[in-house]
Amino acid sequence: MNPLETRLKTLTLNSPLLTASGTSGTTDEMACLHGARGILRALGAFVTKGVTLRPRPGNPEVRVVETRAGLLNSIGLQNSGVKAFVRNELPKLHAYRLPVIVNISAGSVEEFAELTGHLTRLDQAKRIAGLEINVSCPNIAAGGAAFGADPAMVGKVVRAVRKRARRDMLTITKLSPNVTRIVEPAAAAIEAGTDALSMINTLRGTAIDIGTRRFSLGNRTGGLSGPAIKPVGLYMVGECFRALPECRDGRVPIVGIGGIAAWEDALEYIMAGATAVGVGTAWFVDPHVFVRIRDGLKRYCREHKTALAELRGCAHGRQG
Ligand SMILES: Cc1cc2nc3c(=O)[nH]c(=O)nc-3n(C[C@H](O)[C@H](O)[C@H](O)COP(=O)(O)O)c2cc1C
Repeated sequence: MNPLETRLKTLTLNSPLLTASGTSGTTDEMACLHGARGILRALGAFVTKGVTLRPRPGNPEVRVVETRAGLLNSIGLQNSGVKAFVRNELPKLHAYRLPVIVNISAGSVEEFAELTGHLTRLDQAKRIAGLEINVSCPNIAAGGAAFGADPAMVGKVVRAVRKRARRDMLTITKLSPNVTRIVEPAAAAIEAGTDALSMINTLRGTAIDIGTRRFSLGNRTGGLSGPAIKPVGLYMVGECFRALPECRDGRVPIVGIGGIAAWEDALEYIMAGATAVGVGTAWFVDPHVFVRIRDGLKRYCREHKTALAELRGCAHGRQG
C-alpha cells in the first residue's frame, strides 16, 4: 500500500503534494526542466495559476521583491483569460497526466459564476478535476475589500461556483490569512457546500527601497510567502481542524499551504490537520523540492510503519 495516498473527496492522489497556485505557471514551466518527469511523478495534482474571465495585464513592475525570510509579490493575476487558457494551456497541462485543479479569481459573485460556467461547459474543459476558488481577490462591487475578509461574501461566492460547477468537480475554497478568525470564513465556505479548504494565501505586506525612498513594489503592497509564513499557515490549519467537525472527521479536507520547503514542514501541516499540502515559493529556490519532500515523507512513513492518513491531526491528541 502507498503510505502517501491521499483522498480529497472523490479525488484519489498518489501523493499529497500540490503545486501552490501561481508559482508553477500554467504551461511549459515544468516541461522545460531537467528531470521534469521525476518532478511530475512526485506530485499528486497540478494547481494552475489564477485564471480570470477576461485577460489581465497584471500590476506595474516591480512585481517581486525578496525579503529576508520570504518573498513579496504583487503579480496582479496576469493571465490570458479563461477562453485562451482552455484553448492553449489546458491541453499542455493534461499532458502531465496529473489531475488538474484550476485556480479561479474574479471581481464579483456574478463573474465567479460566469467563469465557472466556461470551465464547465467548454468541451476542452471536461477533464478539469477541480476548481480552487481564490477568495483573496478584491470584491470590486464592495469597493475592493477582499471577498475572504467577509464570511457572508465567501458563502455567496462558493454557492455561485458550486451551482455552476460539474457535480463531480472538486471545489476547494482557498482562504486568505488576512482575517482575525480564520474559522469564520472557513465555516461559511463549508456551509455553502465547498468540498475542501486550502489555506493560506499570502499575508499582506510591503517593502521600501531606501535608495529610491519609494515603495519597492510597483503596486506599493503585495503578499508575503515563503518560510516566514509557515507558523501562520500551520496555526490556521490547526484552528480549522480543531474547531470545525467537518474538517476533523475528514468530510471537508484541508490543503495546507504556506512556507513549506522540506518534508518536515509538510509533515507538520499533516499533523496539524491537513490532508494534502501545497508548495509554492520553495519551488523557486529548488525545482526538485517536490521530489525531496515526497522521498522524505516516504522514508518517515517506512521508518515509523505508518501512513499519512494515520497522522492527520495527531498533534491535537485524541480529543482533537
Ligand atoms: C508569485 C506568486 C503568485 C501567486 N499567484 C496566486 C494565484 O494566482 N492564486 C492564488 O490563489 N494564490 C497565488 N499565490 C499564493 C500561493 O499559491 C500560496 O498560497 C502562497 O505563496 C503561500 O505558499 P508558499 O509560502 O509555499 O509560497 C501566489 C504566490 C506567489 C509567490
